[in-house]
Amino acid sequence: MLIGIPAEITAGETRVAITPETAKKLKAQGHTIRIQSGAGVAASVPDDAYRAVGAEITDAAGAYACDIVLKVRCPLDSEMALAKPGSVVVGMLNPFDAAGLQRLAAAQLTSFSLEAAPRTSRAQSMDVLSSQANIAGYKAVMMAADQYQRFFPMLMTAAGTVKAARVVILGVGVAGLQAIATAKRLGAVIEASDVRPSVKEQVESLGGKFIDVPYETDEEREAAVGVGGYAKPMPPSWMARQKIEVAKRVAQADVVITTALIPGRAAPVLVTEEMVKAMKPGSVIVDLAASQGGNCPLTEADKTVVKHGVTLMGQTNIAALVAADASALYARNLLDFLKLIITKEGALKIDLEDDIVAACLMTQGGEVKRK
Ligand code: NAI
Repeated sequence: MLIGIPAEITAGETRVAITPETAKKLKAQGHTIRIQSGAGVAASVPDDAYRAVGAEITDAAGAYACDIVLKVRCPLDSEMALAKPGSVVVGMLNPFDAAGLQRLAAAQLTSFSLEAAPRTSRAQSMDVLSSQANIAGYKAVMMAADQYQRFFPMLMTAAGTVKAARVVILGVGVAGLQAIATAKRLGAVIEASDVRPSVKEQVESLGGKFIDVPYETDEEREAAVGVGGYAKPMPPSWMARQKIEVAKRVAQADVVITTALIPGRAAPVLVTEEMVKAMKPGSVIVDLAASQGGNCPLTEADKTVVKHGVTLMGQTNIAALVAADASALYARNLLDFLKLIITKEGALKIDLEDDIVAACLMTQGGEVKRK
C-alpha cells in the first residue's frame, strides 16, 4: 500500500508520525512510504534518515495522495483539501472534537483516532494517551525544576543545608505517576492525590505519600472506581473534603503538578485562586490539564504567567517539547495499530468485529461513526 506522512502544520506541533525505525518495518512489509520533506526535522529526523531506510521524500500533495495517511494531529482544512476521498487517516484526531470529525466525514475520509482505543491489555501497545502522558509527566517536572529558584534535593554543603523541595502531584494517572518518579529521582519530597482508590499503593511504591480523602457514601465509592480506567466526576461532598486536604498540602508546596482529567469534560478545579494566594512566593504550578480548562482557574493555556508570586505554566502540548522520543513512541503505537487494519498480504481490511478497530473508527463513507 501507499502510506503517506505529511509534515504537521498545527501550531506548536513538533512530532512526526513515522520514524526511520517504523518506516523500515513498514517498508519490509512491502509498503511504499512517502514522507513530506522536512516532516521529521523538528523531531530531529532529517530527510536523509528516512531515505536511508528506503522511504521516498515528497511534498504535501504527494504525502496526502496515498491509501493510508499517518498523522499526529487532525488535518486542518487546508490539509483536508489535499486528502484523497476514500483514503484512510490515522492519528490523534481528538474524538471529542465533533466539528473536526464532521470535517473528516465531509472530506470522505475513513479516519481512526487512537485516543479512543479501549484500555485493555491487547490495546496497550497502541495506547497513545499513555505513551504521550508518560512523556508529559516527565517533562512537567523538568519544566518546574527549570523555573523553580531553589534545589529539588536536600543538600548539605559547607555553606549550610538546603531543604528538599516539596512537590504535590494532583491526579495520578500515567502522567502523574511519571511525574512522581521523576521528581523523586531529583530528590523531592512528594505528596499526591487522586480519586481512584487503586492509586494509593502506586504512589507509595514510588516513595510518595498519598493524600487520603476517605469515601463516606456508596455514591462516592462508586464514582471513585471510575469507568474503563478513567475517572468519573466525583460528588461535591468528596470534592469539598479533598479541597480542604489539598489546600493544606498546596500551601506548604514548592511545586504543584496537576494532571487531573475526565475524558470529554472540563478538568476539575483542584487549585483555587485562594490556594494560589496561600502559596509561598517563587512556587511553581505546572497545569497539565490546561487544554481542558486547567486544574487551576489562573492557568493560561500555552503561557507561563506569574500570579500572586506563583509561576503558573499552562503549556498544552508538553509531549511536543520532547519531540524525538514522543515521536518514537507514537510511531510505534501507529505501527501496532496498522497491523489491525492491514492484512498479511498487504491489503486494507477494516474489521469492525475487532473492538480496538471499532472503537477507534471515527468516520467512514461520509458519516461520523464514533461510538
Ligand atoms: P487521565 O489522563 O484521564 O487522568 C489523570 C488522572 O486524574 C487519573 O488518574 C484520574 O483518576 C485523575 N483525576 C480525575 N479527577 C480527579 C480529581 N477530582 N482529583 C484528583 N484526581 C483526579 O488518566 P490516564 O493517566 O490516561 O489513565 C488513568 C488510569 O487508567 C491509569 O493510571 C491506569 O490505571 C489506567 N490505564 C490502563 C491501561 C490498560 O489497562 N491498558 C492503559 C493506560 C492506563
